[in-house]
Amino acid sequence: MCGIVAYTGQQAVLPILLDGLKQLEYRGYDSAGVSVISRKRLKTVKAAGKLHNLEAKVDAKTNSHCGIGHTRWATHGAPTDENAHPHNDPSQRFAIVHNGIIENVDALKTSLGKSVEYTSETDSEVIAHLLAAQEGELLDAVRAVLVQLVGTYGLAVIDQQNPTTLVVARNGSPVILGIGDGEMFAASDMSAMIRHTNQVVHLDDGEIAELTPEGFKVVRMDSSVASKEAITLNEQHAHYDRGGHDHFLYREIVDQPISIGQTLSGRFDKRFSTAHLGGLNLEARDLIGIKRITILGCGSALFAGMAGANMIESLARIPVIAEPAAEFRYRNPVIEKDTLYVVVSQSGETFDTLAALREVRRKGGFVLGIVNSVGSTIAREVDGGIYMHAGPEVSVASTKAYTSMLVAFSLLALLLGRSRDLSPQQGTRFINELKLLPEQVEQVLKLEPEIKEIAEQYKKSQSAFFIGRTHGFPIALEGAQKLKEISYIHAEAYPASELKHGPLALVTKKTPCFVVLPNDDLLQKTISSMEEIKARGGPVIAITSAPHKAAPRIKSLAQSVLRVPDAGELTQPVLMAVVFQLLAYHSAVSLGRDVDQPRNLAKSVTVE
Ligand code: F6R
Repeated sequence: MCGIVAYTGQQAVLPILLDGLKQLEYRGYDSAGVSVISRKRLKTVKAAGKLHNLEAKVDAKTNSHCGIGHTRWATHGAPTDENAHPHNDPSQRFAIVHNGIIENVDALKTSLGKSVEYTSETDSEVIAHLLAAQEGELLDAVRAVLVQLVGTYGLAVIDQQNPTTLVVARNGSPVILGIGDGEMFAASDMSAMIRHTNQVVHLDDGEIAELTPEGFKVVRMDSSVASKEAITLNEQHAHYDRGGHDHFLYREIVDQPISIGQTLSGRFDKRFSTAHLGGLNLEARDLIGIKRITILGCGSALFAGMAGANMIESLARIPVIAEPAAEFRYRNPVIEKDTLYVVVSQSGETFDTLAALREVRRKGGFVLGIVNSVGSTIAREVDGGIYMHAGPEVSVASTKAYTSMLVAFSLLALLLGRSRDLSPQQGTRFINELKLLPEQVEQVLKLEPEIKEIAEQYKKSQSAFFIGRTHGFPIALEGAQKLKEISYIHAEAYPASELKHGPLALVTKKTPCFVVLPNDDLLQKTISSMEEIKARGGPVIAITSAPHKAAPRIKSLAQSVLRVPDAGELTQPVLMAVVFQLLAYHSAVSLGRDVDQPRNLAKSVTVE
């Protein structure tokens, strides 16, 4: 997705912008550009393709202390130099960078008249032309333009006549202000400025900020002043590097003993054998009144929600469903007072999840968030929530955030269970299982050489199946998702019980079938599914915690067996998920894929 970085202060602006854009690369982009004000003139440089194309074009000696930069992910118009941002007005007074979509661009162009010439095919360029048609102070001019726009924007503007001032604005696309010493930053994503500051202010929709080296002021669309509090983020630049590994994805996989530990840290209430979740904003009386739960998310967050639904039903005996956030909001859902709605999101900015949250709250529903990114829009708009504390996740494919979502759901399930029929003894047992997770994940990571070998063996497959039952099924879904998105091998997940109702027709000796085989009540039935596959010649790879006495039978049916520690029924999925992450990673590396930025995908999907 598109990224914005902006700066005003005493330092040379170009290195700050270029470094910020580099940090934004992980989000996916196809062109980039910068505009700076130097010797009272506006200079804009843009280039299609990767950042090194832009770096080759900029004059590194340009003397400037104020500017804006952008990475573009094409929506309106191809990824060309012309369509890259920033965009200027014809007199080269203003430069703008824009994330989002202007829906009424045609009407705006009509209002500007036929004589205006556009140099790009983008919807965004019209903003620069509209600015040129305004009079008065920069902040007022930007506001006068924004009231005409229909759509979404994260916007940054510089003005050659106000050479130390930046104006930024937000409506539906994130903008964060970064406070420095005699300098100010702005960005669409913390990664672009974390090297310089962790003191931030999150803009809300409908807010416009004017930034100078001395500080900032925020106003609303009606020009009333908004008083904003700065927060200090517990993030460091080191969180955004590869930690000596080849890929962010690998670092994030091997970091999971730590990230899971962080999600669990301080969350156990030993006295009452329950979870301590400070931010829910729900009293014991509210918890007992919950009759149903609906979990909403997208992609891997949805799969984590499906696993979470199983956990909550098991421990708390509350009916739970998990649904794709985008589908939920468009089917005009019935919102009920005694239903708890839970939105789950790593970035806290996913548009579809945010829109579902707003729809529920608009209808009076109570929404909890399970969110990783501190201060993100979803985190700010929910009624209460659980931060995952997994640390920044940079690689496009979700790994450590996914397992932290599972862990956060298990804590919520424990709390809800203990507010009902789960006994203190059962609560303590579950706490003990959760405490073992970081160490058990460490053990799973030791399987890497075997997993790598399996990846090598099946990397040429056209298609793969992932199967599991009950608690294992969402993990199969996530396993298939990981393999698809980073290795581009087609993969399908099915409940093991469903194989014979259709997909078995596709099983041949060229279709590896990855079987989630935990030590649970359905072990024997899942083994029967392995027999069905074997009878059709399909290679079976079992990921199992089954007891040793079942080992000979499993071995006789499976081409390969990966043994993971025998964790509890509800914590087992976390361990199996790590196996699938390593499998996808090694398949992708071996096939020469761009592991951190898979094709066609972007981190944090802030458009519909
Ligand atoms: C898959 C992946 C995506 C995200 C989805 C939701 O690896 O990363 O499917 O899980 O786009 O993103 P968040 O969690 O930021 O709402």
